[in-house]
Amino acid sequence: MTVTETRLGGASSALGPPVVDRLRRPLHDVRISVTDRCNFRCTYCMPREVFGPDYQFLRRDEILSFEEISRLAALFARLGARKFRITGGEPLLRKRIDRLVKMLSGIEGADLALTTNGVLLPDQAEALAVAGLERVTISLDSLEDHVHRQMGDTTAPVDSVLAGISAAERAGLTPIKINTVVRRDCNESAILDLVRHFRGSGHIVRFIEFMDVGMTNGWSLGEVVPADEILARIGEVYPIEPIDANYPGEVARRYRLLDGSGEFGIVASVTRPFCGGCTRARLSTDGQLFTCLFASQGLDLRGPLRADADDDELLAIIAGRWQSRNDRYSELRSKATVEIPRIEMSYIGG
Ligand code: GTP
Ligand code: 5AD
Ligand code: SF4
Ligand code: SF4
Repeated sequence: MTVTETRLGGASSALGPPVVDRLRRPLHDVRISVTDRCNFRCTYCMPREVFGPDYQFLRRDEILSFEEISRLAALFARLGARKFRITGGEPLLRKRIDRLVKMLSGIEGADLALTTNGVLLPDQAEALAVAGLERVTISLDSLEDHVHRQMGDTTAPVDSVLAGISAAERAGLTPIKINTVVRRDCNESAILDLVRHFRGSGHIVRFIEFMDVGMTNGWSLGEVVPADEILARIGEVYPIEPIDANYPGEVARRYRLLDGSGEFGIVASVTRPFCGGCTRARLSTDGQLFTCLFASQGLDLRGPLRADADDDELLAIIAGRWQSRNDRYSELRSKATVEIPRIEMSYIGG
């Protein structure tokens, strides 16, 4: 491939034609996990019984450097990727994450955002915005302290997340999306509380069905609050209507409040799977490429990267993996698939 050279972490960042998988889905999004550590222990993501004091997180030398990440990101861009999401674990725990933001924001035409639990934003939002971050998605499961503390297994109060949301707003990292995982008998009352709280704010709350991602969160179908029920609860109080997706294959279905006070979304991976439009690759903290959130195995990119593979070799490895992809876990979910080992979300990036 001939490219206009814009040097970035050693690789060209010029955009190339899309590569498609076996189900004709292009590679459009890359979710990059920059750390497998987190300052929360959400019960649905990193239960403390598993991620306790003895848990072996990745060593420093196992983790991709910012230069390695940006080199790979630029190569993904050459294969058609346009949307980059920095995730974790908690990405704001990675030292000088604003440096990575600056490097990635140099990729021509890239849409760049970051997903965080928000508590470190008051210190970092401004630097992230200056570095070129466009917006943030902030996780918040309840406005009630005891529910938030229980689901996040954290001592951080709700106010510390709300302070993060305000800091992001002041820094212009908008529109802010609020991710709320809904779990039966844990935080169902948060559905209406959050719609009420964020109407008129310009922020978009997205309710996420509790997913069977990873092997440690004790998932059961009985704990999933289906999208239809979430919708009915909101619809009983606020007149709402569905609105068009922002782009084909959007993960969340969108709804607007008829009084004009805002919109919200529902991510219904369990009851209304969206694999047909899934254009997402995931890069783990230690440089493995995953083509599904529910994958058992990744493809090592760090090995060739550190063995001095040139750009064309790396492009061929990534393109080859994407072209052989036929993942559609959520559409195939059954008693049998739930038994297959799945990688943890804190490692491959939400
Ligand atoms: P934008 O909304 O475009 O800014 O992207 P975003 O990264 O903020 O969120 P996105 O809509 O891509 O995803 C929202 C949430 O849905 C994520 O945080 C995950 O919890 C979940 N999710 C994202 N991608 C997938 C996927 O491929 N499969 C499944 N099952 N869930 C996903
Ligand atoms: N089910 C649904 N959503 C989850 N997240 C993490 N684990 C799960 C799960 N088991 C969400 C987090 C975060 C996003 C990256 O993924 O709340 O907002
Ligand atoms: Fe941390 Fe986010 Fe996982 Fe919660 S969902 S444990 S905040 S990475
Ligand atoms: Fe994509 Fe896998 Fe999620 Fe389906 S289950 S939408 S293939 S990440």
